[in-house]
Amino acid sequence: MNEKYENIEKWLNYQESTWAKLRYELTEYVLRKHIKPANLKVLDIGGGNGKESLWLAKEGANVTIIDISQNMLNDAKKKYTENNVANNLKTIKTDLSIGFSLDEKFDLILIHNLFSYVNNVESILKQAYAYLKKGSFLSIMHVNRYSEIFPPLIFENDLDTAFDKVGKRTAKIDLYEDTEVYRFTADEMIQKLEKYNFGKIEKYGIISMCNLIQDNEIKSQKEYYEKLKKLEIRLMQEYPYYEIARFNQIVAVK
Ligand SMILES: C[S@@+](CC[C@H](N)C(=O)[O-])C[C@H]1O[C@@H](n2cnc3c(N)ncnc32)[C@H](O)[C@@H]1O
Repeated sequence: MNEKYENIEKWLNYQESTWAKLRYELTEYVLRKHIKPANLKVLDIGGGNGKESLWLAKEGANVTIIDISQNMLNDAKKKYTENNVANNLKTIKTDLSIGFSLDEKFDLILIHNLFSYVNNVESILKQAYAYLKKGSFLSIMHVNRYSEIFPPLIFENDLDTAFDKVGKRTAKIDLYEDTEVYRFTADEMIQKLEKYNFGKIEKYGIISMCNLIQDNEIKSQKEYYEKLKKLEIRLMQEYPYYEIARFNQIVAVK
């Protein structure tokens, strides 16, 4: 088991930020276009501490979270309990790199922000597809590798690092100790889905503009935040903005 995912302090700090709040609200906005939560069976693969799925449970979904980190799963249980929906949560601690096995199928499967951390994307997708009911939804969210050039340019005036980022498929992050992570574009992810029999695949940009604004303080001012969110929603499916967004969310219907 990989102990680094037990150090969740930096992750919890990130979740307190305005840009994380915006990210979670935008992915929720996208999902609401496709599903109604009541009575849905949801599988959250690499679901961590349940921030992606809690709103679904609060509106009547039954959620199963799979994750390698006991501390993340404990925090999910705490959040669900605080919101009086502990009965809607099942957690499974497992290392996804060695696969998983379940005895039920789901109406919605989330794989949000996991594929940076595992080297078996294809086998996880294959299993997710098998656990989807017909007519049900797969939502993938991942960091868009085209966006990697912006932080060194905007926040560090570092042209050398920006230059080195072009075309790179990995990045170094310090979220869970120093880790080398994988990066994809939306089209690279969609290509992986095309070998399955999905009826419709839609792609969205999540945070196209927020990370291009240097002034971080202004982002938490209520009026500014609401206008920024409105702009982000406007640009989610507007070419070319989603191509450079920080994250891409892909929703596929089986
Ligand atoms: C960046 S967090 C995302 C959590 C959640 N999906 C979200 O977006 O809020 C990545 C999660 O992947 C989990 N993870 C990383 N490698 C894993 C593995 N091999 N098996 C299971 N979970 C893993 C980590 O423990 C962590 O909870």
